[in-house]
Amino acid sequence: MAKFNSSKIFILLILSVVALITPIHSSDVERKVYIVYIGNLVETDESPSSYHFNMLQEVVDSRFLTKSLVRSYKRSFNGFAAYLTDQEQEKLAGHEKVVSIFPSTTFYPQTTRSWDFLGLAENVHRNPTAESDTIIGVIDTGIWPESESFNDEGLALLPRNGKDKLIGARYYNSQSPTVDSARDKDGHGSHTTSIAAGNYVKDASFYGIAQGIARGGVPSARIAAYKACNGDGCQTTDLLAAFDDAIADGVDIITISVGGDYPSQLENDVIAIGSLHAFQKGILVTQSAGNRGTVSSVMPWIFTVAASSTDRGIVTKVALGNGTLFTGKTVNSFSSTGTSVPVVYGKDVSSRCNELSALSCHPGCLDTDLVKGKIVLCSLFGGVKEAFRAGALGSVSSQRLFFQSPAVADESSVVPLAASALNPNDFQVVQSYFNSTKSPKLDILKSESVRNLDAPLVASFSSRGPNRILTDILKPDITAPGIEILAAFSPMAAYVKSFHPNWSPSAIKSALMTTAWKMDPTKDSLAEFSYGAGHIDPVKAVDPGLVYETFTDDYIKMFCGLGYDSAKLSKIFGVNITCSAGQHGRSKDLNYPSMTSYINTSVTFSEYFTRTVTNVGLANSTYKVTTSTSPDYNITVTPNILTFGATNEKKSFDVIISGKINNGKMVSSLLEWSDGVRKVRSPIVVYPNNL
Ligand SMILES: *[C@@H]1O[C@H](CO)[C@@H](O)[C@H](O)[C@H]1NC(C)=O
Ligand SMILES: *[C@@H]1O[C@H](CO)[C@@H](O)[C@H](O)[C@H]1NC(C)=O
Ligand SMILES: *[C@@H]1O[C@H](CO)[C@@H](O)[C@H](O)[C@H]1NC(C)=O
Ligand SMILES: *[C@@H]1O[C@H](CO)[C@@H](O)[C@H](O)[C@H]1NC(C)=O
Ligand SMILES: *[C@@H]1O[C@H](CO)[C@@H](O)[C@H](O)[C@H]1NC(C)=O
Ligand SMILES: *[C@@H]1O[C@H](CO)[C@@H](O)[C@H](O)[C@H]1NC(C)=O
Repeated sequence: MAKFNSSKIFILLILSVVALITPIHSSDVERKVYIVYIGNLVETDESPSSYHFNMLQEVVDSRFLTKSLVRSYKRSFNGFAAYLTDQEQEKLAGHEKVVSIFPSTTFYPQTTRSWDFLGLAENVHRNPTAESDTIIGVIDTGIWPESESFNDEGLALLPRNGKDKLIGARYYNSQSPTVDSARDKDGHGSHTTSIAAGNYVKDASFYGIAQGIARGGVPSARIAAYKACNGDGCQTTDLLAAFDDAIADGVDIITISVGGDYPSQLENDVIAIGSLHAFQKGILVTQSAGNRGTVSSVMPWIFTVAASSTDRGIVTKVALGNGTLFTGKTVNSFSSTGTSVPVVYGKDVSSRCNELSALSCHPGCLDTDLVKGKIVLCSLFGGVKEAFRAGALGSVSSQRLFFQSPAVADESSVVPLAASALNPNDFQVVQSYFNSTKSPKLDILKSESVRNLDAPLVASFSSRGPNRILTDILKPDITAPGIEILAAFSPMAAYVKSFHPNWSPSAIKSALMTTAWKMDPTKDSLAEFSYGAGHIDPVKAVDPGLVYETFTDDYIKMFCGLGYDSAKLSKIFGVNITCSAGQHGRSKDLNYPSMTSYINTSVTFSEYFTRTVTNVGLANSTYKVTTSTSPDYNITVTPNILTFGATNEKKSFDVIISGKINNGKMVSSLLEWSDGVRKVRSPIVVYPNNL
């Protein structure tokens, strides 16, 4: 398993700067940036860059040759990005070495809406706790570490004393020359990063998960940040560069909450390509399902995480001195402020701004000496960030957002100081209480969970299946708590990995999927297409009993079965592959922890799956199967008892589900292996082509 040593960390400290390249036009032809994917790294006598340059030389007009190359991918896989005319692109597409060539496009960071990460940019605590060796590479909008050593030039990084969470940062600016550091100007990456660092999960005692992590003695993972996105989105050339670096830097897990609008074939999807090469190096890649429409994270080696809306159950109460209690939104991990903290109005503590701006605590308006250690009332939620900047101890605001009024958010946002966001009517009452009371008092309480979390729902914004590219691979794979999507998820995968450092990415993924909490299909008509295997439970995932593993060879077999060309697969995987004739299969034969079959609309069906499980529990153990039941289908599992005599022993079984499609609806069913203690559950989904 890849581990950082000091020289690797040192390499990470060197920011990679992509040459500033402006669009190039010759007199009459326009050049666009294309990504040329060549496949796995291969041994050659020439350096990759000159190899790429030579390929370009064969097709590009010599007058533009030196300006054509945008970036070489050469650390973890093979390819480059270049400015090409349509004609040059066509010529290069026919080159024997090229797997695929496709235009660079823009992907977007995925979260619910802007305020979900508002105020978080500075929320990277520096708890001097023992650290895990697991390194999470976060590909996103960058970081904003709270550290004097990180200056505005963005060149400095944190000290290498072995205790820091953030151990390195790189940035990419192939098409945004104004980006000149890994500093996060947008907040998304800092949100993702600060939560991935584990602080949030720990501090908020998130659903009891934090206790599990503490018990396991793995407080958190370390972070390497890869800034491939900015306010304009993420250029796919830069995303691919970030993968190229993160894999070579030796991270253990890559997390990316970025995606395109539509699913693509492997060879035209930079995240699919980058994550495949990561998988081959033993690195698990987690990706958010997406922000809208059909899920675009479709490849089986990626762990695709949907967002559940459980965070709606987290509230922060505000108590007035006269006994009135209000319930506001925010995820506030700070303990009660008590009622002795002075409360001030934004407008009374600003010497710089007009009344309206001051009331809303507009950026830059508050005077530090007037708000330090106090609670500030702000008429807009965005003011929370300004209150924090100015050194306030707390903030009570209206839920209304900057720029989006009268929008009222319905999801709780993590805050960097004691803060609650009240609905606008309640905020009015707080104001009038202050206006009419001689010595007003106010207490901001720590967040609490107000809802039974047994049946979380998938957030409306989270993308749904089915998988339009690999129709028999269920996507998304799993659901994790709301706003923090992947971010909360990463430390959980790191948590599982810390117990089992030698587990393959597919074993970790299987463990998290088969131990997930079951979700309620009656509350979501798209059932598994919304939530995958269910809601993540990392504590259970440490001891899954059995795992479904897949290795590179299984993926090769799958692509052969899907009709891929042997020569192309050989380039992608970097090994000689000969798909045998007649090897026609579907992705449903992959040894995946869920079972899915896409069928032509027919009233009756009979679908067959075969799977192999590996015993990672007690050496001597016996698992019995149970299946869900319904008038619409029958499930037969053969054998229905698996007896193991050793750890790592493998056993195979067959599943037949037969039945009828009811009113064109998907069949949502499951099977579960249990040894009496551990439960290893897989969803079985059959869906007709009208879905
Ligand atoms: C309370 O007083 C502030 C400032 O004097 C004023 O802007 C606000 O409208 C008043 N609010 C209420 C509800 O009385
Ligand atoms: C507290 O004060 C507010 C504002 O004046 C008022 O609306 C509310 O009814 C008061 N609560 C109690 C319990 O008196
Ligand atoms: C693949 O096959 C080619 C020729 O068929 C051979 O030269 C090469 O060494 C083989 N590569 C591997 C990794 O076996
Ligand atoms: C469904 O039927 C169409 C036309 O008969 C066929 O081309 C297609 O391969 C079938 N799809 C599946 C999943 O069997
Ligand atoms: C498993 O069972 C076999 C035979 O029943 C026994 O010889 C062996 O010691 C057991 N192994 C463990 C780890 O308990
Ligand atoms: C399930 O199996 C039973 C017993 O063989 C049979 O009567 C029933 O029709 C089957 N149901 C479906 C939906 O195929």
